[in-house]
Amino acid sequence: MIDEWYPVGLFSQLDAVGRRTALMGEPIDVARDAEGNAKVTGGNGRALPACVRYGHVWSSLGTPQKALFAIPEADQPGRRFVDVGVVRVRCSPLRAVENFLDIAHFPFVHTDLLGAEPHTEVQNYKVEIREDEVWATQVKFYQPQAAKSASGGITTEYIYRVPAPTCSVLYKTCPPRPSEWDVITLFVQPLAEDLCDVWPWMALFDDTTSMTDLIHFQQTIFLQDRSILENQIPRLLPLDPGMEIPTRADLTSVAYRRWLKRRNYTYGAQLVAQ
Ligand SMILES: [Fe+2]
Repeated sequence: MIDEWYPVGLFSQLDAVGRRTALMGEPIDVARDAEGNAKVTGGNGRALPACVRYGHVWSSLGTPQKALFAIPEADQPGRRFVDVGVVRVRCSPLRAVENFLDIAHFPFVHTDLLGAEPHTEVQNYKVEIREDEVWATQVKFYQPQAAKSASGGITTEYIYRVPAPTCSVLYKTCPPRPSEWDVITLFVQPLAEDLCDVWPWMALFDDTTSMTDLIHFQQTIFLQDRSILENQIPRLLPLDPGMEIPTRADLTSVAYRRWLKRRNYTYGAQLVAQ
């Protein structure tokens, strides 16, 4: 995991003074240099890899073997790109992603927004490994207020992608433009094994909602998740089967854990029962 790219801040908020943050336990500084490029410095003063994509600065403590994963929709004309900002969560970065993949909690945690009783059933969907990423497709769920642009309840369809150990990309029914998908991402910065900064980012078709309302809607959702995440036990994500009992709703979570384990992505994971 040390050779992967991680989000370390919003590019739009960078200045020459920069911000001090952390990556996998190491203090780092993220700033804008004289040419306007993002500059990331490690704890011992060494220059770290840096790139700017999807509104964020990305860095790595190691040597990334490939470019940051692609989100083709980020270059599609007509979309609005929303830097939602940061939510600090006292949980494993892997748990933050796992929670994002879980739809069964919608009616209970995001009541009257992403779900509502009695519409609690998770219908069958497909999970597969596609080009070394976890993909869950044909996920359908009834939502009272699926997006700021939705008027009234609709059955929303979801596609989830996990292209990197602490990142997920969600494609979701786009109420004003049925032929397209809204894109909502979860970029997680691992500060430590049990602490993370979550940077949601969106690429939406929505010409009417104000930027403030779009940000506020998404922050409301993530603050609801935070209270759940900070109370999960064990704190680290168990990767071994049998430690938590999976249900049909957890198919994506099970695939995610297997994928992490097979690739030895274990920062933030609990490998043996404690
Ligand atoms: Fe949630």
